[in-house]
Amino acid sequence: MNFAPKILNWYREHQRDLPWRKTRDPYKVWLSEIILQQTRVAQGMPYYYSFVDAFPTVYDLANAPEEQVLKLWQGLGYYSRARNLHATARMVVDDFDGKFPETYKGLKSLKGVGDYTASAIASFCFDVPEPVVDGNVYRVLSRYFGIDIPINSTQGINYFKELAREVMDAENIRDYNQGIMEFGAIQCAPKKPYCLLCPLQESCVALQENKVDQLPVKLNKTKVRNRYFNFLVFLDDEGNTILEQRTGKGIWQNLYQFPLVESEKMLQAEALRPLINKKNNLPKTESLSLYNNEPVVHKLSHQHLHTQFWILKTSDILKGGTPWKEIGGFPVPVLIADFIRTLKI
Ligand code: ADE
Ligand code: SF4
Repeated sequence: MNFAPKILNWYREHQRDLPWRKTRDPYKVWLSEIILQQTRVAQGMPYYYSFVDAFPTVYDLANAPEEQVLKLWQGLGYYSRARNLHATARMVVDDFDGKFPETYKGLKSLKGVGDYTASAIASFCFDVPEPVVDGNVYRVLSRYFGIDIPINSTQGINYFKELAREVMDAENIRDYNQGIMEFGAIQCAPKKPYCLLCPLQESCVALQENKVDQLPVKLNKTKVRNRYFNFLVFLDDEGNTILEQRTGKGIWQNLYQFPLVESEKMLQAEALRPLINKKNNLPKTESLSLYNNEPVVHKLSHQHLHTQFWILKTSDILKGGTPWKEIGGFPVPVLIADFIRTLKI
């Protein structure tokens, strides 16, 4: 038996019962795929349920206020995904009469829908014979066929897409695509694949050549950038604080945060004071104290955020400030949500 039938057999026996596999509604499949980008199934599942619950159709999502969408997304990270999700829902409603396109090309024209997501929706919902290539598929193909071309090089991306197309089962594309991803997630896992019990072991090149732990090959491209954040947590006598909405591109776009001073390195109070004074529209303060002695290091894929929270007491009543009791209602980065939880006032 060659590759695809073995994957299909394996899948029919071992597949997990996942909610987005029970539907062919492209809206729900699209939703699940956006949520599952860079997110594990166990972590994404509750978000999938709460989105489907809050927004049963693409119209409900398109008509929702952005704040509600960001709030429901809170904790998943990569907030540009949530904004793209919202924008795409509007696009489907405004430009496509509320119906997702049914072709690979049509799907790819949607914002935030790339090669993988277009192939997934086209094949899962409309049986279009397009192979999906995600991290699981790269791993399975590179090991089984013994391919050491880096998966994040242009050559690798093209090579694996072609290979995936050659070996797929076009007649059963829905189950085959789900199956190869599931096989990569469960059987041919990144760290400890179950080669001894694998139905592909007899023809797996990596296993024969003892290269399982060397594949797939990935070029190390990303350099981590260190950033130093000082959040200014103002408190007046009536329990108000100041929250600002982030603008511009970059991380956490449109989320709320305490006023921020970014610095070149970690600061002491004396060095921070003049930088605070340079910022406009902040009230006079009576005291400045560091809340966390050890900086909180928040790791994003390309950045490490070394974060200090400063408490600034003021007797000015903060006009237009936010009552502390209400800050739970604002969409904030998880880093800030965690801090708010620990601070009891
Ligand atoms: N990860 C990304 N897409 C998935 C899917 N459709 N099923 C399981 N895990 C996934
Ligand atoms: Fe993956 Fe091991 Fe199976 Fe090869 S034998 S496909 S490396 S699980």
